[in-house]
Order: sequence, then structure tokens, then C-alpha cells
Amino acid sequence: LALCEARRRLSIAGVPEPRAEALGLLAWASGIRREALLAHGDDALDDGALDRFEGAMARRVGREPFAYIVGEREFFGLSFSVDRRVLIPRPESELLVELALEWLGTCTRESPLVVDVGTGSGALACAVAVHAPWCRVIGVDVSVDALAVAHVNRRALAASSSDHGAHVRPVQGDLLGPVAGPIDVVMANLPYLPRESIDGLQPEVGRHEPRLALDGGRDGLDLILRCLDHAGEKLASDGLALFEIEPFQVDAIAQRATWATCTVHRDLAGLDRVVALRRR
Ligand SMILES: C[S@@+](CC[C@H](N)C(=O)[O-])C[C@H]1O[C@@H](n2cnc3c(N)ncnc32)[C@H](O)[C@@H]1O
Repeated sequence: LALCEARRRLSIAGVPEPRAEALGLLAWASGIRREALLAHGDDALDDGALDRFEGAMARRVGREPFAYIVGEREFFGLSFSVDRRVLIPRPESELLVELALEWLGTCTRESPLVVDVGTGSGALACAVAVHAPWCRVIGVDVSVDALAVAHVNRRALAASSSDHGAHVRPVQGDLLGPVAGPIDVVMANLPYLPRESIDGLQPEVGRHEPRLALDGGRDGLDLILRCLDHAGEKLASDGLALFEIEPFQVDAIAQRATWATCTVHRDLAGLDRVVALRRR
């Protein structure tokens, strides 16, 4: 009964996929697996679970993202704590990690330096640290609030996977400013949305995710272009810089990065999503 009513409320609130969302929230609130809830119904839930579910529903009806309500999101097969202080890591950003790992697999240096600039929750930095534990990984963010979340994730990783997390160092600062080069790999999922487009986004993003994580200025390129200049100064001689972008930004980036050869990679939707710059 609780599920039917919840689905109806989410549907009225305009939440996409209300049935799956209601089931997911109820599973979280009750600690009972979705399959079991579907098979046995929700009549036997205790008051504590129903109260938690009601609280979660009120937030979701207000279009707060599911990941903030349950407090976690999976990225690259790992679970990360997330809340309103950080952007929720997106599947398309896994491409940055894949390309970084591909390059690191061929790098002969003993302990390459990888910088995740605009690290947010620290998801990209932690994913690289787990899969390439021989690297030194720094996550930079200008937001002290975001870095607090990155610290939580770094510590959870350190606790769960011998010493991997110990290789991620969250640092506060502007772009690559706080990092001494040479840097071998830069991963940059910086804010890249044109400012005017933000209010038109779905409420989960536009109303709830940090503006500091989304707003890339008039054409979305303010931070990317500045970071390109930093990368030009600090990248090692054969280093790699990866930028997540909007497709229309490719030309401006290729023009600015006079120091690099530029390759463009598409996301699963077939859109140009990552620019890879190799120092010439
Ligand atoms: C789009 S979010 C990406 C977060 C994370 N890398 C991810 O992919 O989930 C961009 C991040 O860049 C940070 N940021 C914004 N301006 C910055 C700056 N000037 N220097 C460093 N980080 C910045 C924001 O605080 C935010 O955490």
C-alpha cells in the first residue's frame, strides 16, 4: 500500500520513473531488498521504516536527488558518500578514469602524479587510486565543503582496501595552483555549463546540486580555459590532460591548447564528452 501511494505522489511531483524510485526509497528506508519488497509486499514494515520512508518521500517529492537522500552513489564500481555539498558523480565521468588508467598502464615512471581537479566527492581520484595504486593522487577543490566529503570518501576507501585510500590527498585551492609540477595526468570535470542554462535544468540538478559545481560562466568555459593554461605550465613532457566538456566547446579548447595534440572521445550517447590533450 505504501508503495502504491508513494508512486502516485512521485508521479504527480514529476519525478521520472516513479515506480523504481519509490521502490528504491522504500528498500533504503526498510533495509529490505527490492526483490523481497516486490515479492512479499510492504504490509509488515515497522513504524521506524515507515517514518524514514515518509521523510525520504517528502524530500524526493521536493525533487531532491535520490543519491542525496540515501547518501551514496556508485561510481566506477565503488560506493561514495554524497550530499548537497558535492555534485553527484555521473556515469559519463567514468570515461575520464578509463582514459587516465589506460595512459597510466603504459607509463614507465615509478610513481606518476595524477591530479583530479575539481574533485568534489573525490570519486574520480579514489577510482584511479584503487586501480592504479602505484600512483600519487591529489584531488583539488576550491570548496572546503566539498573537500570535507572527499575526506570522508578517502578515509572509507583507506579503511576498506588496505592502503589504497592513503594515496589520495585532498587539497584546497584554485585549479592546479596548489600542485607543484610536473603532473603526469590531469583529470578535470570542472563546472562547464553555460550559466544561463542552469535554471532550465531538471530541478534535481538546478535547484539542489551546488552552483559552484555547475556554473562555468557565460559559455561554460571560464574554468576549463584557465585550467588549460595551468596544465600547459605544469604537465610533464609526455603528460595527459583530460577535460569533460559540452560538445560545442571542443574547438575553443583545441585552439587554446597550443601545447598539445587533441583527441575527442564520445560518451555512451555518442556525444563528444572528453577532450584528451597530450603534451607535444
Ligand atoms: C562538476 S563538479 C565535479 C566533481 C567531481 N569531479 C565529479 O566528477 O563528480 C566540479 C567541481 O569543481 C569545483 N570547482 C569549482 N571551481 C573550482 C576552482 N576554481 N578550482 C578547483 N575546483 C573548483 C567545484 O567545487 C566542484 O566540486
